[in-house]
Amino acid sequence: MQEPREGNPPRDLTLILGATGKTGRRVAARLQALGVPVRGVSRSSDLPFDWNDDTTWAAALDGVRHVYVSYSPDLAAPGVQPIIASFAHMARDVGVERLVLLSGRGEEGAQRCEDTVLDIGPRWTVVRASWFNQNFSEGHFLPGIQQGTLALPAGDVREPFIDVDDIADVAVAALTSDGHEGQIYEVTGPRLLTFAEAVAEIGAATGRPIEYRRIPTQDYVAAATAEGAPGEIADLLRFLFDTVLDGRNESVEDGVQRALGRPPRDFRDYAQQLAATGVWDQPRSPEAVVRRLIDEAFNQGRTEVIPELVHADYVYRSPGEQVDGATGLQALVTGYRTAFPDLHVRIDELVATDDTTVTSLTLTGTHRGDLLGIAPTGKPVEVHAMVRSRFRDGRIADEWELLDMQSLLEQLGVMELSS
Ligand SMILES: NC(=O)c1ccc[n+]([C@@H]2O[C@H](COP(=O)([O-])OP(=O)(O)OC[C@H]3O[C@@H](n4cnc5c(N)ncnc54)[C@H](OP(=O)(O)O)[C@@H]3O)[C@@H](O)[C@H]2O)c1
Repeated sequence: MQEPREGNPPRDLTLILGATGKTGRRVAARLQALGVPVRGVSRSSDLPFDWNDDTTWAAALDGVRHVYVSYSPDLAAPGVQPIIASFAHMARDVGVERLVLLSGRGEEGAQRCEDTVLDIGPRWTVVRASWFNQNFSEGHFLPGIQQGTLALPAGDVREPFIDVDDIADVAVAALTSDGHEGQIYEVTGPRLLTFAEAVAEIGAATGRPIEYRRIPTQDYVAAATAEGAPGEIADLLRFLFDTVLDGRNESVEDGVQRALGRPPRDFRDYAQQLAATGVWDQPRSPEAVVRRLIDEAFNQGRTEVIPELVHADYVYRSPGEQVDGATGLQALVTGYRTAFPDLHVRIDELVATDDTTVTSLTLTGTHRGDLLGIAPTGKPVEVHAMVRSRFRDGRIADEWELLDMQSLLEQLGVMELSS
């Protein structure tokens, strides 16, 4: 993220709170694309920001002109209003001009926070959102969808699911242009859907049957607790499913149209686009993914499988080399197979955890094409390598490889044998 230069920086930063979250990440990316200097913070950023530790707030606000506030876990949680009030006072006192607060519909506690913010900064803006589409693809509902059954304590109540890309567009408009001062934008999608209907839309988009099952709230909360959710999150889940989903939000609102002059995105459009990314496919084990990459891409030369196996943000590193994305890896594999058309990669050992593999490999082949500027020598080679692969959403996200380059160069005769 861009930061001002040393010295006496102009106060031109936009601070994003919750910058690694579903909305914050998108708001930051949009602002950066517009050339707006951004400081994105959360508990895990280089400059840490923690809602529960107000000694971290002043540094985050230093040099800041505008702020996007996504509170975590939820504005409606007990005891949040005084925290929001303290932060809003601090922001006003350092001269923050535009502040956009992300809020939730039908939540009394959230609306107390909205009132507090607009009281302290009457020209600031509230984006009051319905349930996010992306809960199904980036949130807690994802594993259920991937495994073919989503079980939630929601019955026939209908919800106008909103796309977080629309929320980010509204927030960016309010942070960068006039005309949004003092507004409360109630942002919803264009259509009411039950949770079962939303899941059916995802099933239709993926072409895979996905079941929706209604379960008692107590079972859902007990399962979340067993997975490590603390008591306050358990209370929040009970409140969200039993209180907020009582039908009070069964209406479509025009916040996106009012803020942006265009309609919001339909859930079907979201489902179709996400299905094409493979995010809802059944998860494969890291070991199976690595074996497919080596067998199909390296050994059979079928580099077209690579986009299915690696994450959109894929990065490969080895000493002195880095390639990015599926296309970078495709070029790397093609380069190897051009240099060694009979390339064979053998897995000697593969150790896997839930999200990481370490593989020891032996590469054999005959040097018949250019390799790192070395003209073909016709020599057979046998080289050992180790690769550490990390996984995200069932795909390889980053890899680090150590290949015995010295041995390779010795076998090609371009380097003296070491004594
Ligand atoms: N999901 C929905 O359907 C929905 C609907 C309406 C409104 N909302 C509201 O949206 C907000 C959540 O936004 P989101 O979905 O963009 O977030 P998110 O995806 O849940 O991510 C949470 C963000 O907040 C940070 N964070 C967590 N605890 C923190 C703490 N104690 N101090 C500072 N930062 C913290 C996280 O990073 P670190 O872990 O690195 O700190 C992360 O960047 C909540 O206020 C919620 O009420 C959600």
